[in-house]
Amino acid sequence: MTPVGLRALVDGATRLLDEAGVASPRHDALALAAFALGLERVDLVLPPALPDGFPAAYAGLVDRRARREPLQHIVGSTGFRYLTLAVEKGVFVPRPETEVVAGLAVDEAAARVAAGANPLVVDLCTGSGAIAVAVATEVPAARVVAVDVSSPAVDLATRNATAAGARVTVLLGDVADPDLLAELAGQVDVVVSNPPYIPPDAVPTDPEVRLHDPDVALYGGGADGLDTPRAVLAAASRLLRPGGLLVVEHAEVQAEALRAAAVATGVFEEPGTVPDLTGRPRALLARRSA
Ligand SMILES: C[S@@+](CC[C@H](N)C(=O)[O-])C[C@H]1O[C@@H](n2cnc3c(N)ncnc32)[C@H](O)[C@@H]1O
Repeated sequence: MTPVGLRALVDGATRLLDEAGVASPRHDALALAAFALGLERVDLVLPPALPDGFPAAYAGLVDRRARREPLQHIVGSTGFRYLTLAVEKGVFVPRPETEVVAGLAVDEAAARVAAGANPLVVDLCTGSGAIAVAVATEVPAARVVAVDVSSPAVDLATRNATAAGARVTVLLGDVADPDLLAELAGQVDVVVSNPPYIPPDAVPTDPEVRLHDPDVALYGGGADGLDTPRAVLAAASRLLRPGGLLVVEHAEVQAEALRAAAVATGVFEEPGTVPDLTGRPRALLARRSA
């Protein structure tokens, strides 16, 4: 096939994905072409030689994406900070905004290491292990424990940690269990979490999210979606040592409610809210009082 052939196929796929309502049609058309060719990325200026059967294979992938199957499920991976993580059906796809949340945990753990400590970090509701593996690879001196209630998530997080050579202990557990990680009570330096937090009346409109992320990863429970985030606060109250840091991702409209919930535990000092990269209030930051 000629170079023009590849460009024409990618152009056609871009139009098709655009008509299907995909938010980033050109990016996804190029990413699927690269995936079909087994390459990191496709260069349309110096295009690679195309194998026989490429047009049909590419059309099949583009059709799946046009049906709004997540790009990450089709290619089987996603980027997260410095990592490429395996992604699969049945486990939440890590999002770019969570990279900021992971960064807050990384910075705190790194500061502890700089002060001569070997920090203990707990990632509650770990999913694919994105936050836990990021902390463990960026701060190798940290001990990292990750927990999720879903067996497929625990399985995937374990594989992602192994693939990255990261020191992470991944455990099956419910954040609402008052005995969760009881052996670590009062010893943890950082508790970080991106829990489910969507309220029941805020069903996501994007088919990629509504139809492909598991409900257990989306809906936080209770009328305000904050049952699981409140369970995270309760668990962090037990786990953190005095001066330990809590970081919890939440929806834009939940900043005030979550700060109030942190105050209500009676153990956190002046909880604050951190913006994401677009300036929206998306994470609770609270330090356990001494
Ligand atoms: C929004 S996803 C986030 C996954 C991962 N932290 C990330 O940022 O990509 C929430 C995760 O919480 C887990 N989860 C839901 N309820 C839980 C509970 N009660 N205890 C522990 N994990 C829970 C889900 O299985 C899911 O993997």
